[in-house]
Amino acid sequence: MKTRTLGPNGPTVSAIGLGCMGMSAFYGGRGSDADAIQVIHHALDQGITLLDTADMYGPHTNEELVGRAIDGRRDDVFLATKFGIRLDPDDPQARGVDGRPEYVMAACEGSLRRLKVDVIDLYYQHRVDPGVPIEDTVGAMARLVEQGKVRHIGLSEASAATLRRAHAVHPVTALQSEYSLWSREPETDGTLAACRELGIGFVPYSPLGRGFLTGTIRTADDFDADDYRRYSPRFQGDNFARNLALVEQVQAIAQDYHVTPGQLALAWVLAQGEDLVPIPGTKRIVYLDENIAALDIDLTADDLARIDAIFPPDAAAGDRYPAASMGSVGR
Ligand SMILES: NC(=O)c1ccc[n+]([C@@H]2O[C@H](COP(=O)([O-])OP(=O)(O)OC[C@H]3O[C@@H](n4cnc5c(N)ncnc54)[C@H](OP(=O)(O)O)[C@@H]3O)[C@@H](O)[C@H]2O)c1
Repeated sequence: MKTRTLGPNGPTVSAIGLGCMGMSAFYGGRGSDADAIQVIHHALDQGITLLDTADMYGPHTNEELVGRAIDGRRDDVFLATKFGIRLDPDDPQARGVDGRPEYVMAACEGSLRRLKVDVIDLYYQHRVDPGVPIEDTVGAMARLVEQGKVRHIGLSEASAATLRRAHAVHPVTALQSEYSLWSREPETDGTLAACRELGIGFVPYSPLGRGFLTGTIRTADDFDADDYRRYSPRFQGDNFARNLALVEQVQAIAQDYHVTPGQLALAWVLAQGEDLVPIPGTKRIVYLDENIAALDIDLTADDLARIDAIFPPDAAAGDRYPAASMGSVGR
């Protein structure tokens, strides 16, 4: 397994991680926990070390699942989880954010318990809380490091300005934000540049565009009733058809390399810099192996330019989140 570091002086992890979210939430089509644990074990057997979860996936059940999967294999894993998005049990679409120091401390205790570990390798604030100065939230995260409960801290979907303020309080090891062929904001909003300037690793989430960039999703009608993607503007109406036309153009380049469009999409992310560690998510061993094989694809400069021409930063039709959630990114 190829490795990368999170930032120039940061921890070494497998060059791609495994996103575990879909095993418990958001994408429907879920199998048994036993199947999911097999996928996680297969990832570890192949040398993947970075596992990504969050307390709100499920909620809570994804951390419990990951905890069961890594039982006895803790030393093989660089374990990342997140706090800060609070769900309303009565309304699955409603979200709150909480970055209060007392909540940070309590949330961490819950994650440690569910994951059945003494220490979390990378603890992210899932969304910045506009009601709490980032210095206070990160101050609490720094206390968790002092207490030995957390090794590294990270932010998710934070702006460059927030990242700078956070990093001044305690070194931030990674920023996790959506980044893929159809989600190019980190290039244009200054966050990728800020990470590079500050020596912070960048973890692209949803690098396969929530599955769309693999070309295997032909209609949103096939999604389960509770599949989050039904609510995403990019998967709706005309946007869906316009975005699929872009994927079909990329498919032609993938054929030249004898790879799938999903592998090409991952290879494109990996080619954007050695400081990027994408975390594709899957519930299936066959997809996992396909995603790992993308590490061996070397795209030529000409082909990267061809892909960029098909998918310039503003190519995707529709926002990546429903309107109510767009407000919580880039704070
Ligand atoms: N920080 C945040 O706010 C945030 C937000 C979203 C996600 N995340 C993290 O990022 C991880 C990855 O993101 P994601 O799961 O949203 O999106 P993704 O990795 O872009 O796509 C996952 C989807 O692609 C499918 N897929 C995976 N590999 C495939 C392949 N080789 N061929 C065809 N289809 C394939 C999966 O299907 P199956 O499930 O059927 O295998 C799943 O539906 C998550 O698991 C989570 O840990 C973080």
